[in-house]
Amino acid sequence: MSRASDERLTVQGADGAYEISRYCPHAGEDLAIGGLVLEGNVIRCLGHNLEFDLKTGECLNARCNPLLTRRTLAHAEQNGGREQPHLVGF
Ligand code: FES
Repeated sequence: MSRASDERLTVQGADGAYEISRYCPHAGEDLAIGGLVLEGNVIRCLGHNLEFDLKTGECLNARCNPLLTRRTLAHAEQNGGREQPHLVGF
């Protein structure tokens, strides 16, 4: 099975929705089935329990490449269009 590196998921964080890369930057776990959104805008990959900040993509508990993430347009619209989507790596 090939994996398109541009496949994305939309997940709901504490402050809105984020579009993230479908596959974990650590070792490629499919976050559609192996991702768990935690409090505080964090997603945990159940592959090896690395956690990523949904706002920045930063790995919070290990050295790892960041998760590609951005706020969805819906989030910006929810805030009256005052806020631009946060783009990281797209
Ligand atoms: S594959 Fe996601 S933490 Fe290892």
